[in-house]
Amino acid sequence: MAMLPYDDRDGFIWIDGKMTPWREAKVHFLTNTLQYGSGVFEGIRAYNGNIFKLREHVLRLIEGCKIMDMRLPYTEEEISNACLESVRINKISNGYLRPLVWHGTDDVGISTHNIKTHLGVATWEWPSYFSVADQEKGISLKTSPWRRPPAECAPVHAKACGLYMISTLSKHNAENAGYTDSLMLDYRGRVAELSIANFFTVKNGELHTPEPGCFLAGITRSTVIDLAKKNGIKVYERVIMPEELKDMDECFATGTASEVTPIGKIDDIIYKPGPVTKLLKAEYEKLVRMPSDTL
Ligand SMILES: Cc1ncc(COP(=O)(O)O)c(C=O)c1O
Repeated sequence: MAMLPYDDRDGFIWIDGKMTPWREAKVHFLTNTLQYGSGVFEGIRAYNGNIFKLREHVLRLIEGCKIMDMRLPYTEEEISNACLESVRINKISNGYLRPLVWHGTDDVGISTHNIKTHLGVATWEWPSYFSVADQEKGISLKTSPWRRPPAECAPVHAKACGLYMISTLSKHNAENAGYTDSLMLDYRGRVAELSIANFFTVKNGELHTPEPGCFLAGITRSTVIDLAKKNGIKVYERVIMPEELKDMDECFATGTASEVTPIGKIDDIIYKPGPVTKLLKAEYEKLVRMPSDTL
């Protein structure tokens, strides 16, 4: 069955304070962010109608705008309310929210000082990023020829639109070779993350994850580190080299979209979803559905 295109759906998208009918939520061809990629966005999930870690995501959006020198004309409370109202009016139960901050059409130059900053929030039902089969046996990753850049060369700690061209190129490289996703190294050749998720590996029951010096330190990443510690699992945030991966017992990915997803293969190395991955996946699934942890 063909998927409904994202511009042809029922519902409302919150744009600059107004609930806009879904099909009318459009921007002009000369929108500055469309031309130069200078936007900041968020990816948030709702479970049973409750938004998980809303505050953390809104604060990251605000911080990302500061890093990108975007003058966001909304407060934390106004952005949170836009998200809550979007979930309510669209009757979302288990879904995804996509806030986006962009520069408009007041000028076409590379400087955005005279351009208005806009905010939109879309939300839709979206149960799972990876298929059920992938979730069970683990996704396959191909090491990407594209690397994460150093913090001096790109706004690596903002969820900035322009950075995602590397993710798209990486994901295409993996999919073209029959893999689900890519494992990205950083500019020094160290293990970094996936195209839109963070990376964890397990050895002798202990958890290892790369230090997020030049990539997004995910909200799910810190949630899973906390869950591991609560369950008595030692966690090491450290430099991980790709040569080490063949000696590891388990690997998994974390992200708002990806949740906790086992990794079954990296290039030619095969892994089985093991006890630590299964435990943390189950704990995460339990936590996101606890109403007390939603705000
Ligand atoms: C590049 C990248 N890394 C990591 C993540 C995971 O971050 P989070 O757990 O906050 O969703 C994401 C998703 O937001 C991402 O796009």
